[in-house]
Amino acid sequence: MQKELITEKSSETQKLGEKMAKKMKGGEVVCLSGDLGAGKTTFAQGFLRGLGAEGPFVSPTFLIMKQYKIGRKKPFREIYHIDAYRVNAQNIIDLGWEEIVKNKNNIIIIEWAEKISEIIPQSALEVEFEWLDKNKRKIRFKNFKFLK
Ligand SMILES: Nc1ncnc2c1ncn2[C@@H]1O[C@H](COP(=O)(O)OP(=O)(O)OP(=O)(O)O)[C@@H](O)[C@H]1O
Ligand SMILES: [Mg+2]
Repeated sequence: MQKELITEKSSETQKLGEKMAKKMKGGEVVCLSGDLGAGKTTFAQGFLRGLGAEGPFVSPTFLIMKQYKIGRKKPFREIYHIDAYRVNAQNIIDLGWEEIVKNKNNIIIIEWAEKISEIIPQSALEVEFEWLDKNKRKIRFKNFKFLK
C-alpha cells in the first residue's frame, strides 16, 4: 500500500497536502520525512488549509510545536504542527505529548518525525519527500491509500 507521486511545483505539493487532509477522521498522526527543502512544510501548509485551520501557516521551526484550532463542522478540534528537527523525544513529551496523542479530537502532523521515532505510534501515516530537482519532488505515501 505504497504510492509515489511527482510534483513539479510547490502548489502541487500543497494540493496533495490538502487532499490528504480531507481524508482525516481525527486522531491521526502524519509523519513527514525527507531532507532540508524537500517540501515538508509546503505539504503541511496545504494540509492545514485542507483541514480548515486558520492561518497564517508558519513553519514551526522556531516554535517546535504550533497549535491550530478548526471550525465546529469537523469532528476534530485541534491540529498540532511539529518540527522535530532540533529536538528530541523528551522535549516533545515535555510539551504534553501523551495527552495530545491520545486525544482523538486532535490531528498531528510532524516534520522530521524520524528524530522522535521512539514516541511515534505504530499507526502513524508516513509521507516521504525526495528532492529531484529545483521544482520536482517525489512524494511517497507509505501506508495511506491515496488516489490522485
Ligand atoms: N514541487 C515542489 N514541492 C514542494 N516545494 C517545492 C517544489 N518546487 C519547489 N519547491 C520549493 O522548495 C522549498 C521547500 O521548502 P520546505 O520548507 O517546504 O521544505 P522542508 O522539507 O520543510 O524543509 P526543512 O527540513 O528545512 O523544514 C520551498 O521554497 C518551495 O517553494
Ligand atoms: Mg520545514
